[in-house]
Amino acid sequence: MHSITVSAPGKLMLLGEHAVVYDRPCLVTTVNQRLALEARLLDDCLFQLEAPDVKISNYKKSFEDIGKAKIPKGAKFVEIAVFNFMKKYKFSSGIHINTITEFSPLYGFGSSSAVTVCTIKALSELFNITLTDKELFDLAYKTVLDIQGKGSGFDIAAAIYGGTLYFFTAGKKIEPLKIKSLPLIVGYSGVKADTVTLINQIKEKAKKYPDIIDRIYDHIAELVEQAKQALLAKDWVRFGELMNMNQGYLNSLGVSTEKLEIMIYATRSAGAYGAKLSGAGGGDCMIAIAPENKKQAVRDAITKKGGQIIDTTTNCKGVIIEKYD
Ligand code: PMV
Repeated sequence: MHSITVSAPGKLMLLGEHAVVYDRPCLVTTVNQRLALEARLLDDCLFQLEAPDVKISNYKKSFEDIGKAKIPKGAKFVEIAVFNFMKKYKFSSGIHINTITEFSPLYGFGSSSAVTVCTIKALSELFNITLTDKELFDLAYKTVLDIQGKGSGFDIAAAIYGGTLYFFTAGKKIEPLKIKSLPLIVGYSGVKADTVTLINQIKEKAKKYPDIIDRIYDHIAELVEQAKQALLAKDWVRFGELMNMNQGYLNSLGVSTEKLEIMIYATRSAGAYGAKLSGAGGGDCMIAIAPENKKQAVRDAITKKGGQIIDTTTNCKGVIIEKYD
């Protein structure tokens, strides 16, 4: 086998963001928009990358230089994943990687974690190394931490395991939840947010109000536990109410924005059971859960407030091999 194509899904945080960075649980689901990656071995000792969605074209490096010198933003996750894989499994061969994403990197659907997972998965197949899901998680999580220094790893777990997960910081617990579907509506706020900046913003706040922030995280953890039960029981009314409470805490942490709040309130007024931001905040997406007969009104409310509806289904497959050549 000389070439392989793998794909991994994007994700949406349901409840528990930020608290999950600090030893608490969260709930995450996957979306049907995927990132695909093709990897092929080369005779030359080169690392080559084509990633048009993140403006990387004709990127080349000699094998000894991988992971060194300045790496363009769009190439970082693939290059460091290749570097970490090489170092751990001691292989060396030229490699060409091509990526294509079905969703905009602006949405916060986790293109960085999906591409990291796909890179390691593809290399393990090309070099015949059997990795368990947890081994794949650990190497991909290390890669993300090497680059951004922070993060719970929930997005990595979503890309690997797929479906809907109850996840605890650093993968201490990754529990797939048996659900069929989730009546979610997703609205993009039109603003790209930077996760690390928002985590650091709360960290500063926590220096000033350590006990308050810690207790907010405890409350969010309690909401996640109850929302997990509501989810399993398909009790969407309760799930929505818990989402609303979670949004209140995110607001108090300072990561909501006026635009997100406007969209969230509009969906609630249009009949959603609940709505909240999804992810780090500061922009990106909001999610709403609504009864079937209110879905269109909720979608219209988002559009009316200047948001963009992202048509997606949730609870999708984790990383898969698309084809070998
Ligand atoms: O910005 P997103 O969609 O990648 O979500 C970040 C969620 C955080 O809890 C803030 C960070 C993390 O790694 O869990």
